[in-house]
Amino acid sequence: MMEENIQNIAKKIVEDGKGILAADESTNTIKKRFDSIKVESNEKTRCNYRDTLFSTPNISKYISGVILFEETFFQKNLDNQLLKKKLENIECYPGIKIDQGLEEMSENTIETYTKGIETLNERLQPFVENGAKFTKWRAVINIGKDIPTDSCIKKNSLLLADYALVSQKNKLVPIVEPEVIMEGSHNLDTCYEITKRTLDEVFESLSKKNVDLKGMLLKPNMIVPGKESKEDLDAKKISEKTLDCLIKTVPKEVPGIVFLSGGLDSINATMLLNEINKINKSPWKLSFSYGRALQEDALKMWAGKNENKDTVQNTFLHRAKMNSLACHGKWNASLENE
Ligand code: 13P
Repeated sequence: MMEENIQNIAKKIVEDGKGILAADESTNTIKKRFDSIKVESNEKTRCNYRDTLFSTPNISKYISGVILFEETFFQKNLDNQLLKKKLENIECYPGIKIDQGLEEMSENTIETYTKGIETLNERLQPFVENGAKFTKWRAVINIGKDIPTDSCIKKNSLLLADYALVSQKNKLVPIVEPEVIMEGSHNLDTCYEITKRTLDEVFESLSKKNVDLKGMLLKPNMIVPGKESKEDLDAKKISEKTLDCLIKTVPKEVPGIVFLSGGLDSINATMLLNEINKINKSPWKLSFSYGRALQEDALKMWAGKNENKDTVQNTFLHRAKMNSLACHGKWNASLENE
C-alpha cells in the first residue's frame, strides 16, 4: 500500500471527481440552519442529522473527505458508534475545522481576522491522536467602501500561512480558505480584483513560510458578482474569470482547488463548477468543498424527522453525484431530474 503522507492525501482528496463535504458548521451556524426548518438545535439533533448524511449508501463514490466541527469529531450515534469512525469505514477522510472564528480588526470596521493561532498546535493534538487527516482554517475578506484594506489582507494571509505550516508539521493537510464573501453590491470585476489581490498575498505568505504546496489544498470563492449587485450570473464570464484569476495566482504545485459555495444555490454551484471544468486546461484538479450547496436540499427533506432518512440520503447522494459530474465537466441540467 502507498504510504500515507500529506502530499498523497491531498492528491487523493481531489481524485476521480471526488470532493469534500463541509459539515463543520459551528454551533451558532448550525442553529441558524436548523431554525430555517424549525428544528431545535441540540447535541442529539445535530448528531442525528449528521449521522444521516454520513450513513448515505455509496456516498464515498463522490465524497472523499468531510470537514467536521469539534463536537462531531468525538460524537457517537444512537448505536454508540463514533461518527468519525463511520467515515473512516467507508474510506472517507475525516478533517477538522480548527480556526476559532472571526474577530473584528478594530472597533469601527467590519473587517475581521481569524482567531486561534496562539493555541493551534496544542488544540490540534487530540485530532492528530484520533486520526484526523486534514484541517480547515477560514479567513474572511469583505468588499465594501474602502475595504478590504491591505492590512486586513496581509494579516489574514500571514495567519493562513502560519496555520498551514503548523498543520503540516502535525502531518495534516491544511485546507487554506481565504473567502472573499459574496455579500455586497460590488460587480464581478471587483470580485476578480479583490480575489486576485488576496490570493497573491496568500501565496506570497505561504512561500515565505516554506509551506509545502504539494501537501495543501486551496479553498477559494469563485469570481461572482455581489449578492446585491444587479449583475446576472453569467456562467461564461464567471468560469473564464475564475480560471484566469487562479492561473495568475496559484502555483502549479498545488494539487487541487476545492471551491466553497458561499451562498450560491445548489444548482448554480454545480453548474458553475461544471462550466469551469469544461474549459479547464490548468494543472490542478478543480473540485468542491461545499457546505450549503451540498446540504440545503437534504436539510429541507430531513425536517428533523428520522423517518425521512431515505429521502434525505437520496437527495444528498444525488447532489454529491451532480457535483462529481461537474468535476469532469459532464453535468447538464437534464440530469437533475434523474
Ligand atoms: P459554503 O459552501 O456554504 O460556503 O461553506 C463552505 C465552508 O466550509 C465555509 O467555511
